[in-house]
Amino acid sequence: MPPKLSSSLLPSVIFLSLVFLFIYSTFLPFFTNNPPSAPTKKFLASSSSSSCNLFDGNWVLDRTKPKPFYDDSCPFHRNAWNCLKNKRDNMETINSWKWVPKDCSLERIDPWRFLGLMRNRNIGFVGDSLNENFLVSFLCVLSAADSGAKKWKKKGAWRGAYFPHYNVTVAYHRAVLLAKYKWMPKESLVSDQGGLKGIYRVDVDVPADEWIGITDFYDVLVFNTGHWWGYDKFPEETPLVFYRHGQPISPPLGLLDGLQVVLENMLQYIEKKVPKNTIKFWRLQSPRHFYGGEWNQNGSCLLDRPLEEDQLNLWFEPSNNGVNKDARTLNYLIKETLEGRDIQLLDLTHLSEFRADAHPAIWLGKKDAVSVWGQDCLHWCLPGVPDTWVDILVQLIYNSLETG
Ligand SMILES: *[C@@H]1O[C@H](CO)[C@@H](O)[C@H](O)[C@H]1NC(C)=O
Ligand SMILES: *[C@@H]1O[C@H](CO)[C@@H](O)[C@H](O)[C@H]1NC(C)=O
Repeated sequence: MPPKLSSSLLPSVIFLSLVFLFIYSTFLPFFTNNPPSAPTKKFLASSSSSSCNLFDGNWVLDRTKPKPFYDDSCPFHRNAWNCLKNKRDNMETINSWKWVPKDCSLERIDPWRFLGLMRNRNIGFVGDSLNENFLVSFLCVLSAADSGAKKWKKKGAWRGAYFPHYNVTVAYHRAVLLAKYKWMPKESLVSDQGGLKGIYRVDVDVPADEWIGITDFYDVLVFNTGHWWGYDKFPEETPLVFYRHGQPISPPLGLLDGLQVVLENMLQYIEKKVPKNTIKFWRLQSPRHFYGGEWNQNGSCLLDRPLEEDQLNLWFEPSNNGVNKDARTLNYLIKETLEGRDIQLLDLTHLSEFRADAHPAIWLGKKDAVSVWGQDCLHWCLPGVPDTWVDILVQLIYNSLETG
C-alpha cells in the first residue's frame, strides 16, 4: 500500500515542488542548446552573427585546392562568362587561389548536403547582372548534386534552375534598379529641355514587376543594386528622373540621392511583404578592375595575379578618384541605409577587390566583342571568384538555420 501523506506534510511537499520548478525553469535556458521549437518549413531569420568575419582575410595560392565542381559543360553557363570555353589564359591559376578568412575557416560547399538541407525550399536572387553572375556559379555548383537539374523561368525569373531530386528552385529576377522604371521619349514629356532625348522614369515607391509578387515563394532572398547607378548607363541626355506617388519629385534628385530614396522604399516594401522567417541578404558591390582607362577607353584587366593588400586603396578609395571608385562610394551609401534592418550584409567587396586577375577580360567568346564593348573587367569568369561567394553564402545560411 502506498504510504499516505499526512495532511501536515502535504503543504511542504507542494512548496518544495514549486521551489524546484522555479529553479528548474530559471536555469533551463542555460542548459539547453535547442531552440524551444524546431523550425519547420520556413525558418527564422537571425541578425546574430557567428563569432568570425568571413569577409576579412587573404587569398592564398594553393595548388592542391580541389578542382571546381563544374567545367565549361555546365548547362547554366552564360557564354560571355564561360572562360574555359572561351579559352581564357590562366584559368587553372585563377582557380587555385583560396580565400582564407583571418579568424576562421571557410568550408567549401557540399552541394549534396546543402540541397538536402534546403529540401522543399527556394532561393531567389534579385538585382543586376552581378547577381546573375553569382546565380550562374551557384547553379553550376549545385547541379553537381542533381543530374536532373532543369532550367526554370517562372514567376518572372530571368534565369534559374529546378533541382527535382530535392524539390529546390534557385532563380534570379532581373531588376537592375530594384524599383520600377521605364523609358519615356522626349515627345511624351511636358517640359522640353534642350539636348534631352528622353528620360527614364523611376517610381521610387514601386518595386519592379519582375519581383513584386515573388516574396512569398522564396525562403532565402539575396538582393543587390548598384552597378547601374552611374552616368555611364544614364548620361545627361537620357537621365533617370525620380517619381513618388506618380509625381516627379521636386526639386529633382541626383543619382545618389535617388538611389538612397529607392533603397529606403524598397527596404520598407521588403519589411512589409517578405515573411519574417525568410532569410534575407543584401549583397554589396562587386568591384570592377579597369586599368589604364575606362571600359570604353581601352581599360584593361590583363593581370595574372591578385592585387596586393596595399594596392587596394589606390585602386578603390574614392578620394583617389580612380576609374574603379564606384564600388566603395556606393557601399558607403548602401551600408548606411541598411543599418538596423533585419537583412544580413553579404560584404563581398573587399575579398573581390583583390581579384583583378579573374575577369573575362578579352576572352568573351565573340569575335568583335572587345572592339565594340571593350574588355569585361566587371563580371567574373566561371568557374572563379563567385564560387567563393557561394561558399560564404552557404555558410551564412547554415549559421542562420542553426541560430534560427
Ligand atoms: C515542393 O516544395 C514546395 C515548396 O517550395 C511545396 O509546396 C511542395 O509541396 C513540394 N513538393 C513536393 C512533391 O514535396
Ligand atoms: C584604344 O586603342 C586603339 C588601338 O590601340 C587606339 O587606336 C585608340 O586610340 C585607343 N583609344 C583610347 C581612348 O585610348
